[in-house]
Amino acid sequence: MRTRICGTGSALPGREVTNDDLSRIMDTSDDWIRSRTGIGKRHLATEETLAGLAAAAARQALAEAEMKPEELDMILAATLSADKILPSLACELQRELGAVHAAAFDINAACSGFLFALQTADAYIQCGVCKNVLVVGGEILSKLMDWNDRSTCVLFGDGAGAAVVRADKEFGILGSVQGSDGTKGDALLCENRRNNNPYVKNDTALPYVSMDGQAIYKFAVRTVPKAVMEAVLKAGLAIEDIDLFLLHQANIRILEAVSRRLKAPMEKFPTNLESCGNISAGSVPVLLDYVNQKGMIQKGDKIVLAGFGAGLTWGASVLTW
Ligand code: UT7
Repeated sequence: MRTRICGTGSALPGREVTNDDLSRIMDTSDDWIRSRTGIGKRHLATEETLAGLAAAAARQALAEAEMKPEELDMILAATLSADKILPSLACELQRELGAVHAAAFDINAACSGFLFALQTADAYIQCGVCKNVLVVGGEILSKLMDWNDRSTCVLFGDGAGAAVVRADKEFGILGSVQGSDGTKGDALLCENRRNNNPYVKNDTALPYVSMDGQAIYKFAVRTVPKAVMEAVLKAGLAIEDIDLFLLHQANIRILEAVSRRLKAPMEKFPTNLESCGNISAGSVPVLLDYVNQKGMIQKGDKIVLAGFGAGLTWGASVLTW
């Protein structure tokens, strides 16, 4: 039995913030951001909730899959920025959608989150526990940014993407790899909320994302090609057989480096970095929905999905559309 993606959806907040907008509130420029990252603007949530964005994305994915929410056995939400610590984003989604038969839980693997959630859905489907799973990835990272740190806040955007997967005899996931290296966790870090215990001295700094950009860059260009290659081999395919590589959207230079290392042309690496920035766990499913809605994927195409990020974590899956 394979795990087949049969519907996708995405939702972005209404407020668009361009690089020029940012240059009016901090010492940066369109030229710096664009030339180093490929990012032109990002969507930032000002009124939207992550549950609301995720539900909008999920409804589109369910509609395309022609599946009712009650048919879902499971909801997996990949995020590091859920609206609430409790309940989970997945449980909020279950309530929003009326998916009364679904078990629901969140997965935090940062920017690899959607891949980890998709591969978890695959495992549940492979072992016969589930047939229909909603996999969502989304973030409102803007609330976790230090808006005085120009080296991080210009990179990220908000949004959510969804995929409905179901058990299928023929099409679907052919091979996957995932991995983690907790020893390098400090390279991309966000502390938790302050401890409110009255017996603890409360002098910790406010929790914002901090990053060693060059360490993450080197990790990405070394690890992603290797993970993609391994997943492609597991699928019994060669790099030339792959029609599209949908990679986590962190930096256009990372995509170009991966394309060079895999000897696959950049035309096979679609990108929405220009308009969305880095949406962390939302990045891959938002891009997947974009290429799906644009008609860029045909039935039977071989697709690679790959993510990498904090943890450190990485994951890649190869599938037949
Ligand atoms: O989901 C995974 C998330 N993370 C990533 O994928 C990050 C991967 N890393 C990167 O994409 C790149 O390392 C960055 C885009 C983050 C940074 O590019 P870089 O070429 O590594 O720049 P840098 O950090 O070496 O900084 C170069 C200069 C510094 O100034 P000095 O020290 O040379 O005078 C920075 O202070 O650029 C300065 N700088 C900026 N200037 C204008 C840093 N951020 C900005 C900015 N605008 N926003």
